Amino acid sequence: MAEVYWHPHKVTKEDRQKIKGHKSAVIWFTGLSGSGKSTLANELEYRLHSLGVHTYMLDGDNIRHGLNSDLGFSPEDRQENIRRIGEVAKLFVDAGLVVLVSFISPYRRDRNRARSLVEPGEFIEVYVKCPLEVAERRDPKGLYKKARAGIIQEFTGISAPYEEPENPEIVVETDKLSVEESVEKIFKYLLNNGILKEDAQK
Ligand code: ADX
Repeated sequence: MAEVYWHPHKVTKEDRQKIKGHKSAVIWFTGLSGSGKSTLANELEYRLHSLGVHTYMLDGDNIRHGLNSDLGFSPEDRQENIRRIGEVAKLFVDAGLVVLVSFISPYRRDRNRARSLVEPGEFIEVYVKCPLEVAERRDPKGLYKKARAGIIQEFTGISAPYEEPENPEIVVETDKLSVEESVEKIFKYLLNNGILKEDAQK
């Protein structure tokens, strides 16, 4: 941006990570409404937090009450929704936290843009995979019913697209795995990829 200059900070991301004893990263949960993103993110955050990992959760339903309360569900608004959250997630990574992001984030391009904001290895895309029929059967908020009835427009999976990730770091199939199994899979990935230290398990 013209006339706005980047000011270097004396305390770096690495300095902040050192204090916390773990790396920082974005764990980006993407998938249909009702696929289980928030449930998994919540359970994983609980486990990480109880091990002393400094976490923060960004959840679409909640962020849309505040920071993104001006946005709807058109493709443009979803793009802006994800752009802002990508930037916020980047700040949390810089702060040294493990940030759990739970948004439908239906567009590949928007997710990839969020990925490009952080360094390689810092963005862990978790595809919360669940057949539409199963998500629709669960219908925890009754929204699929409303979408089928035409009361809600541009509903992901019904009248708006969902673009599956092509190369996610992790896929969890929530119609086949229990919540515990899915959380375990993501937790193992964090250990195996050096986000958490081995002694984090104890
Ligand atoms: S995103 O597509 O822009 O990433 P986000 O995750 O923030 O979506 O919000 C999705 C949540 O908003 C859903 O879980 C659902 O509760 C609610 N919602 C309301 N209207 C819609 C809609 N048209 N499409 C999808 N979700 C909707």
